Amino acid sequence: MNMPLTQELVEKKYHLYHSKINEALAACFDKELPVTLYAPARYILEGNGKRIRPFLTLLASEAICGSSETALNVALAVEILHNFTLIHDDIMDQAELRHSRPTVHKQWNVNAAILTGDMMIAYAYELALQASTTRHAELIHILNHANITICEGQALDMELEEKQDASIADYLDMISKKTGRLISAALEAGGVAGNATDEQLQNLVLFGEKIGRAFQIQDDYLDIMAVNGKSGKMAGGDIINGKKTYLLLRSLELTRGADHDLLHSVIINKGTSPDKVAEVKKVYERCGILEETAALINRDTEEALTALDQLPHAEGKEYLKGFANILIKRDF
Ligand code: IPE
Ligand code: IPE
Ligand code: MG
Ligand code: MG
Ligand code: MG
Repeated sequence: MNMPLTQELVEKKYHLYHSKINEALAACFDKELPVTLYAPARYILEGNGKRIRPFLTLLASEAICGSSETALNVALAVEILHNFTLIHDDIMDQAELRHSRPTVHKQWNVNAAILTGDMMIAYAYELALQASTTRHAELIHILNHANITICEGQALDMELEEKQDASIADYLDMISKKTGRLISAALEAGGVAGNATDEQLQNLVLFGEKIGRAFQIQDDYLDIMAVNGKSGKMAGGDIINGKKTYLLLRSLELTRGADHDLLHSVIINKGTSPDKVAEVKKVYERCGILEETAALINRDTEEALTALDQLPHAEGKEYLKGFANILIKRDF
């Protein structure tokens, strides 16, 4: 039995690595021209992103070999890829706010947002190729697989907006692709940087899939439940866009009468006007979905932790477990 780390120690490492990642990101995209290409890349990376994926990359490397030295460029590649997905996601979701600031396509325009995102993908691959490892082909394969899977997930997300009979299984499949795969890839790529075996990579991927699912369910929860604009996004955007989240789909099963009719109208109309968000929130608060959602997130996280048992480096492994437990409690 390894001794679990205190939450304080895990948070300390998170803050330390958060600063280190931000410092390294600030040195990226230093070209000035064309200004409408590079300024948006710097802008999205200056937002207050949580840097969860690159932190997981660094921790995964440490759980394998005790060091994250060779994983920093890989971590940056993952974070830049993630930020490309955010820029394009905000176009697709017609979102006006991210990190409490105008989204890239609002601050500039849709064309600038598309191009900056495209350029960031290529930039991320270059960083992965600069990692000091002999396993570059594997890294590129992981990033490619993640990238293609995110596109599949985002396509399904859009298709579900239109679908009247979406099921909870449809939703879970969609989130495993749009969100779960990049989180599992962040861990897998960190494992490769730490020179992991195939079996160790499989364990990291399994852990990532489970926490990735919990992470997106929490994101959906916070979309409407975050207090005082803490999410940095427009509250209730998912309801307005008619997103088929676990909250919406399961609440349809839990409600009757007027509450059910209100939720059903969101499905039929493929969304709703912003003034209905408060009413939907009240339905969620009284129908039991918030408790069910918390239970599901806890269950996924518990399952995730067991996937780590076989990893070789005890302290690194405990940091991964400690961070998974912090993620469950996040409120932004
Ligand atoms: C947002 O991810 C997109 C999802 C997959 C839910 P994060 O919540 O990690 O975004 P930042 O990087 O902290 O802004
Ligand atoms: C995020 O899903 C998926 C990707 C960015 C690939 P959301 O659309 O829920 O993310 P947020 O809430 O806008 O960050
Ligand atoms: Mg979105
Ligand atoms: Mg989206
Ligand atoms: Mg969201």
